[in-house]
Amino acid sequence: MTDETLANLLKEDRRFEPPAELAANANVKADAYDAARADREAFWAAQADRLSWDTRWDRVLDWDNAPFAKWFVGGKLNAAYNCVDRHVEAGRGDKVAIHWVGEPVNDGVADTRDLTYADLQREVSQAANALTDLGVGKGDRVAIYLPMIPEAVVAMLACARIGAPHTVVFGGFSADALASRLDDCQAKVVITADGGYRRGTASALKPAVDEARTKTAQMGHVVDKVLVIRRTGQEVAWDDATDVWWHDAVGNASTEHTPEAFDAEHPLYVMYTSGTTGKPKGILHTTGGYLVGSSYTHHAVFDLKPDTDVYWCTADIGWVTGHSYIVYGPLANGVTQVLYEGTPDSPEPGRWWKIIQDYKVTLFYTAPTAIRSFMKQGREIPDQYDMSSLRILGSVGEPINPEAYVWYRHVIGGDRTPIVDTWWQTETGSVMISPLPGVTAGKPGSAMTPIPGIEADVVDDDGNPVPNGSGGYLVVTSPWPSMLRTIWGDDDRYVDTYWSRFKQQGYYFAGDGAKKDTDGDIWVLGRVDDVMNVSGHRLSTTEIESALVSHPKVAESAVVGASDPDTGQAVVAYVILRNEAGDGGPDIVKELSDHVRKEIGPIAKPRQIMIVPELPKTRSGKIMRRLLRDVAEGRAVGDTQTLADASIMDLISAGQATST
Ligand code: WTA
Repeated sequence: MTDETLANLLKEDRRFEPPAELAANANVKADAYDAARADREAFWAAQADRLSWDTRWDRVLDWDNAPFAKWFVGGKLNAAYNCVDRHVEAGRGDKVAIHWVGEPVNDGVADTRDLTYADLQREVSQAANALTDLGVGKGDRVAIYLPMIPEAVVAMLACARIGAPHTVVFGGFSADALASRLDDCQAKVVITADGGYRRGTASALKPAVDEARTKTAQMGHVVDKVLVIRRTGQEVAWDDATDVWWHDAVGNASTEHTPEAFDAEHPLYVMYTSGTTGKPKGILHTTGGYLVGSSYTHHAVFDLKPDTDVYWCTADIGWVTGHSYIVYGPLANGVTQVLYEGTPDSPEPGRWWKIIQDYKVTLFYTAPTAIRSFMKQGREIPDQYDMSSLRILGSVGEPINPEAYVWYRHVIGGDRTPIVDTWWQTETGSVMISPLPGVTAGKPGSAMTPIPGIEADVVDDDGNPVPNGSGGYLVVTSPWPSMLRTIWGDDDRYVDTYWSRFKQQGYYFAGDGAKKDTDGDIWVLGRVDDVMNVSGHRLSTTEIESALVSHPKVAESAVVGASDPDTGQAVVAYVILRNEAGDGGPDIVKELSDHVRKEIGPIAKPRQIMIVPELPKTRSGKIMRRLLRDVAEGRAVGDTQTLADASIMDLISAGQATST
């Protein structure tokens, strides 16, 4: 973000007070901040009591071996029981848990399915039995590579039920990306589908799993079984030794299954996310604290009223938002929610708004990038639908620019709905900084304040809190229940990445820059490291650079995230070709772009690739990305004094002027 945008942002002075009725009946009121401050552990223990425990904990937090936390020590519970069975036992078995909406619409009729909590209980039990029959036991890892179908939720809960940590890999990732994750966590079983629907056409998933399995075998890891859901009915290659149809294995399994209680610190899942090096980090979340954090925040930030609300989070289950705010938080709270398979505008541009109208959605959670793309299409589209059911709107994944915030509130929310701009990360497990809809007067563009129970601040290079009106690094100053426990298999990297920057103070370093305004409210500005945020998806510059360099024609590359009006940031790559590759040939840009797509996935595809003769480096050989970002964002190139060869930037800028 440029200084100018920042200055404009901070001039933003619109305020939106909570609606009086919402404020009066809010789940969480202003006194919660004081209660949490007075005794943070007692506060979290009270939130933990919202769950059902087989054995109560005897210590809320063990931070003796910091930064390795243990929450609710000695407690035992089953996450799937909390998300499913306890609602059935409480007489809510007939309540709809999931209104699933498939993407295809045939003759005006959408492909839909409603699952009640009793349905979920049966299917999760069947899947748990089937996984056990396939040899999956407590502690074994199961990878899930699926489209947004109800079985994705069932599969995750079945794993949780038997204590097998899942690792969900976003369906848009390539076979290579899947292989590296399967290998890193040594997954025993993969759950996938023949394919899924994307903009009206069936796209295959199973071939990527087959390819990934071959690759992991070459790395020395053998995946035992692949459980395949039939979604599209397309042809699939079949290996009898490994492949098992879901409808056979799960369909024929018993619908009875007794959940076992696991230790609060038993691993629940590993979610891979991009870091500043080429290798994705497996973020480990455990059972008790994570479920406390995700369910409490969902209750507080969305003011969830389970008897009357209809909730919809548009995230994919392959990201942390889908884990915390489709599966664990909402289901632990006994919500009725919409789960949608497809793209926002397929088969018609107003598809999302029609879903809100049809299901009378009251709480809606999406990402700024989607809001911006709807803004571009114009308000005529949403205006055709009745969205008067909406009462709270949420935003997540990247900073929401004030204009998008105001449009969202005005056009989608009919000027009634508070907006909760929720800042959090894969690592934090649940929302950390956000308005509370019944308490906070929202400011467009600001995530506002840490929620009750969370302590965060903005600090300078030395770890001292910055005064109001200044910027610095966003840190979390005390441990919280849903915090990551480590990086899978790499405790050192965990300590190094998050806890070494402000070691002396013992602060968690989030990797984001932020500013405190004159009221002390927090404005998150974006990453301060080599992580980009493209349409709310985290991508590492190094990971894309490594992908480019693995192409035989490439000698060196540098990747930067350039600001982009639609996607927040976009990937811009500078590439030096090997001598023997000459000019690379007429299709070199497409060739490299396809290569990145193959190595990582379509989300990592550069917006622009520039073939350059040299890269700007300091005398010590460090690439000066700042200058490359200037070029990518069309600005005059900044200070080049520290460059070993200042003329390089003239060459690159000249090339930029003529590149298409
Ligand atoms: C960014 C997604 C500003 C931030 C839940 C963070 C945000 C990264 C916001 C985590 C927000 C997320 N305002 N920035 N409301 N929410 N971010 O792990 O840079 O995919 O560090 O988790 O997204 O992305 P992740």
